[in-house]
Amino acid sequence: MSTSDQRKIPSSPFLKVLHYENVEIPPIWLMRQAGRYLPEYLKTREEAGSFLDLCYNPKLACEVTLQPIRRFGFDASILFSDILVVPDALGQDVSFVKGEGPKLTPLETQKDITSLDIKNTKTKFETVFETVERIRSSLPEETALIGFCGAPWTVATYMIGGQGSTDQAQTRLFAYQKPQLFEKLIEILCYTSVDYLSGQIKAGAQAIQIFDSWAGPLPDDEFRNWVIKPTEQIVSQLKARHPDIPIIGFPRGAGPRYPQYVTMTRVDAVSCDTSLPLTFMQSRLQNRLPVQGNLDPLLLITGGSRLDKRIDEILQALSGGPFIFNLGHGILPQTPIKHVEHLIKRVRTPL
Ligand code: CP3
Repeated sequence: MSTSDQRKIPSSPFLKVLHYENVEIPPIWLMRQAGRYLPEYLKTREEAGSFLDLCYNPKLACEVTLQPIRRFGFDASILFSDILVVPDALGQDVSFVKGEGPKLTPLETQKDITSLDIKNTKTKFETVFETVERIRSSLPEETALIGFCGAPWTVATYMIGGQGSTDQAQTRLFAYQKPQLFEKLIEILCYTSVDYLSGQIKAGAQAIQIFDSWAGPLPDDEFRNWVIKPTEQIVSQLKARHPDIPIIGFPRGAGPRYPQYVTMTRVDAVSCDTSLPLTFMQSRLQNRLPVQGNLDPLLLITGGSRLDKRIDEILQALSGGPFIFNLGHGILPQTPIKHVEHLIKRVRTPL
């Protein structure tokens, strides 16, 4: 462990939980906490030009990372970037169309995959590492900095499908029909992600989250091949280089396969989606490792007594063990700022 890590651990409640130290009040941060529900984010994004320009502008990406910390005082910040920076750095054509989400030129042939530019990711990645350095040096000491990447399966669904979809049919079909070629793509994503995460850690990231947002729809065999195996590889290779940096896995939608994911990937903590029952989180996961989650982002839009009831249920079920309060998926653009302020206050007021 480097001296800077050692200095940071005792003062950050978020890192304390990941290192199994006791805290009185659960730390809180929200997935996608920097984003369109904040007027200051919209302003900075305008200034940057396109969304990808914002991701590759260390000064402005640092600014939007800090915005939710200044406004709300979350216990952790997350690097402002996107999981699709990896395909972009690999030379795939990536753009973000306002109101429609990401669009990529889909990979179809063997040539498309073998011509990915695996040797030239450095320039783009180094811009992101510079952002990480800036963020770490601007953050209060007690606020942790999380680095991240998309898990190979989830990133591959965008690379093959060309855009988001709910069932990932196009990518599942590709994996059934061309398993060797798909394996090759997953392999490229594994080692590129390890380098990318390792660079973030060297630049100052104190924990890592691996987002597998589309893990849910896969049948068991495919789940093992494309979710568990690549994640296990990334975790073991990253652990070999940075043994003390905690890794949080987020296999969204994995349902009853969450415990198997935890056992086989050896992640240090697990982020739970909205659908996972609190009793399951407590008895099948939290008895083994720190858990994070899992308020429904739609309830944070709703507010009022429904929101309060659920916040209290989550706190009651999980505050007794290692627990980080979060949403079960990213915060939505329609979320009222007042509801976020209320949530933080309620989580920080002892029951
Ligand atoms: O604050 C943070 O959490 C850090 C930044 C962050 C973004 N994307 C910024 C972003 C993180 C961690 C991500 C991860 C990400 N990106 C995931 C995994 C988590 C998840 O939500 O499931 C995925 C699947 C993506 C891919 C992606 N990026 C999609 C599908 C979209 C469009 C949908 C949407 O929410 O707009 C994006 C765009 C994106 N990434 C935005 C932000 C703030 C909105 C872009 C804008 O400003 O218009």
